[in-house]
Amino acid sequence: MSAALRSAIRDVVDFPKPGIIFKDITPVLADGKLFHEAISLLCDTTGGVRIDKVVGIDARGFIFAAAVADRLGAGFIPVRKKGKLPWKTHEASYSLEYGENVVELHQDAIRPGETILMVDDLLATGGTAAAAVELLETLGADLVGISVLIELGFLNGREKLARHTVNSIITY
Ligand code: PRP
Ligand code: MG
Repeated sequence: MSAALRSAIRDVVDFPKPGIIFKDITPVLADGKLFHEAISLLCDTTGGVRIDKVVGIDARGFIFAAAVADRLGAGFIPVRKKGKLPWKTHEASYSLEYGENVVELHQDAIRPGETILMVDDLLATGGTAAAAVELLETLGADLVGISVLIELGFLNGREKLARHTVNSIITY
């Protein structure tokens, strides 16, 4: 990974609320070379395993997952926040600091045994990714790995995903 990629991620203090330091990826997206590098590094996490479909998580995950899917010649599948997908869905909930959130996946999005790479921009507590894994398991997907650009290692999110391969490009 280039030092430029890491240094392009901007810390925004007290966003979205006091005490949170938000990792802002928009400077990476805005720079064609850095965005290309980020997608290349995410693609490398497959270790050469053929991927049928890349699953992206609403909303920031879509940006990376769709580009990875195109680069790998794979399909793209959205896991969306509740109420956005039009067809029949499965749903899974996860805890937030206050309350809970629900994500959905189309019931016909994946056939049993298809190889899947899940991509998101950031792994924090792991709640979002764990809910998405639950949905993929419902459909009998073969989850090759979970790849994120940024991992907040101090939040131990990968412990919630212990049965799966988690790859991160940049760790804090
Ligand atoms: C953020 C981030 C990850 C998730 C990680 O999404 O993009 O998807 O939080 O947090 P966790 O590991 O603690 O679950 P968020 O839903 O906040 O915003 P987004 O819609 O902009 O992606
Ligand atoms: Mg997100």
